[in-house]
Amino acid sequence: MGVNQGVSGFERSGNPETPNLEVEIGRIRMKNPVTVGSGTFGFGQEMADFYDLSRLGAITVKGTSLKPWLGNDYPRTVETPSGMLNAIGLQNDGIDSLINEKLPFLRQFDVPVIVNIVGHSVDEYAELAARLDNVEGVAGLEINISCPNVKQGCLVFGTTPEGTAEVVSAVRARTGLTVITKLSPNVGDIVTIALAAVEAGSDALSLINTLLGTAIDPWQRRFRLANITGGLSGPAIKPVALRMVYDVARAVDVPIIGMGGIMTATDAIEFLLAGANAIAVGTANFVNPMAAVEIIEGIEDYCKSNGVSDVNEIVKTVS
Ligand SMILES: Cc1cc2nc3c(=O)[nH]c(=O)nc-3n(C[C@H](O)[C@H](O)[C@H](O)COP(=O)(O)O)c2cc1C
Repeated sequence: MGVNQGVSGFERSGNPETPNLEVEIGRIRMKNPVTVGSGTFGFGQEMADFYDLSRLGAITVKGTSLKPWLGNDYPRTVETPSGMLNAIGLQNDGIDSLINEKLPFLRQFDVPVIVNIVGHSVDEYAELAARLDNVEGVAGLEINISCPNVKQGCLVFGTTPEGTAEVVSAVRARTGLTVITKLSPNVGDIVTIALAAVEAGSDALSLINTLLGTAIDPWQRRFRLANITGGLSGPAIKPVALRMVYDVARAVDVPIIGMGGIMTATDAIEFLLAGANAIAVGTANFVNPMAAVEIIEGIEDYCKSNGVSDVNEIVKTVS
């Protein structure tokens, strides 16, 4: 019988008054299970005005390509019921700017940095992985094979098991960093794609990216986004994301970072119960810059008030 067998039925190895919040995603050790959704947190500079970034379990930075990408025409975002559509098109300044300007800023914080990488070809992903392999302050790579708003590349890979495997193994071959593959919900069977990513050497998975959608202005008779379609995020997608995390968690044995509409600690707990080992706060950052910190505190409160001494105990325990 374990030490401190709990009244709630959880096997306790510690003290629920000071619950362990630490989780591991591959070789990335997070002090709590909360990171941020790539593209919703920039490179941390603006958010550092609101709180000490070291409070986060990890920082996942905006999608980064080899050369700067200009992104799509405006308008690029539109609000929808319980969510937003975005078609930014992965505008970013490229990897040199990440290495020379953004990472030195992030290195002052005691927090692992995950770099989200995007490319137009398998070779571009592989080169990004090689360039970032020994860069100080990079803990892991998140392969974005699931961006819905870029016409060439990206989504093309993430919609088939073969395309997914090709990108993941090319990245795997060029880096010793923890590799996380970010899955698209815009596929027929996300479990097949998840299995292909793991088989090809992905250490972990993150899901979900945005769901493809559109919005129309009936008075102007025009699309509201210059790109016509965009990616839907926010509370509207939470039930879809939860279901996908649940399905994938039952099929793979690598850690999962769950995301999609997480606005509160209660949302985050639901993802952990469904099978996520960590979670990412995305669109919520635009609504409430303190959201991620409030969610960390809320997870801790949940553990304390439910006799949970280690947050890992509740992962995949929904019935
Ligand atoms: C404005 C915006 C930009 C995004 N940029 C990226 C990106 O660069 N790379 C990526 O993998 N996902 C990107 N995403 C997707 C988010 O990281 C996240 O997967 C998605 O929004 C679902 O989570 P949420 O509903 O909590 O926002 C972006 C989302 C938004 C809203």
